[in-house]
Amino acid sequence: MAKNMKGKDLISLLDLTPEEIDQILDTASFLKRLHYTGEPFRPLQGKTLGMIFTKPSTRTRVSFQVAIYQLGGMGIYLGADDLQLGRGETIADTARVLSRYLDGIMIRTFAHDDVVQLAEHADIPVVNGLTDLLHPTQVLADLLTLREKKGRLAGLKLTYIGDGNNVAHSLLFGCAKMGVNLTLATPAGHEPLAWVVARAKEEAARRGCQIELTDDPRAAVQGADAVYTDVWTSMGQEQEREQRLKALQPFQVNARLMAHAGEDALFLHCLPAHRGEEVTDEVMDGPQSVVFDEAENRLHVHKAILALVM
Ligand code: CP
Ligand code: NVA
Repeated sequence: MAKNMKGKDLISLLDLTPEEIDQILDTASFLKRLHYTGEPFRPLQGKTLGMIFTKPSTRTRVSFQVAIYQLGGMGIYLGADDLQLGRGETIADTARVLSRYLDGIMIRTFAHDDVVQLAEHADIPVVNGLTDLLHPTQVLADLLTLREKKGRLAGLKLTYIGDGNNVAHSLLFGCAKMGVNLTLATPAGHEPLAWVVARAKEEAARRGCQIELTDDPRAAVQGADAVYTDVWTSMGQEQEREQRLKALQPFQVNARLMAHAGEDALFLHCLPAHRGEEVTDEVMDGPQSVVFDEAENRLHVHKAILALVM
């Protein structure tokens, strides 16, 4: 392997170099091929991954647990009520204690700063499995899917339609790092955070790709190699659901919108999908949709991350 990533945290794609992202994607492709040959590969025998979840999960939870198992290690699921964190033990002390037992931590929670703090005080690698701000492991799987389907990353055009949320933020960083042109169409009041856009634009300028923001979904999908959307109401925003449904309705990805993108455009969604809201059945189940390949790639990417950092 080109570069030693042992011990490295994965908190934000902004912290990775394009070479490191390439290394994760190359390792994921290698492990995916190996997986299909049925040949065992157990570099993490005897190692344990703690998996902290204070939000629900289907894909992240199951794919990380399967990933560590297939690599020869063991995963321990730690739910919101399982740790003393919920009863006032500090994040720093939790990090110090877990470092004495575990070889790695994957965490999904609300406040991004909690993950940053955990990583600061842990002596073992910490992987961000989603915060209110970012979802980096998702976007690594998205990049792998795009690369598999389109044969390259640099120079592609990805269009994100909908809420400027954690997934949109990680797409901004991931696309900018890998030279993918990204257009985001979001309604007023639901734009991605200004500092995230500014940092992504700095990176994009270095790689010679474009980041564009608009409130016009039709114009945004013109010439897109892939159209991406996510739920309008993220975990933790449930009380804003009615307002969000109204504001985001014109941003639904349906057959009419996909027609503006053209036949070669893929459809991506991190899932879970709220069918009938941000995306219609015809698009989810249509020929352009690669959402289940994308979900599968979470497993291969997570195996790559764990094998590289643990
Ligand atoms: N895409 C994703 O992270 O799904 P889960 O919430 O099911 O983990
Ligand atoms: N934006 C969504 C992603 C779920 C995987 C959320 O945070 O709920």
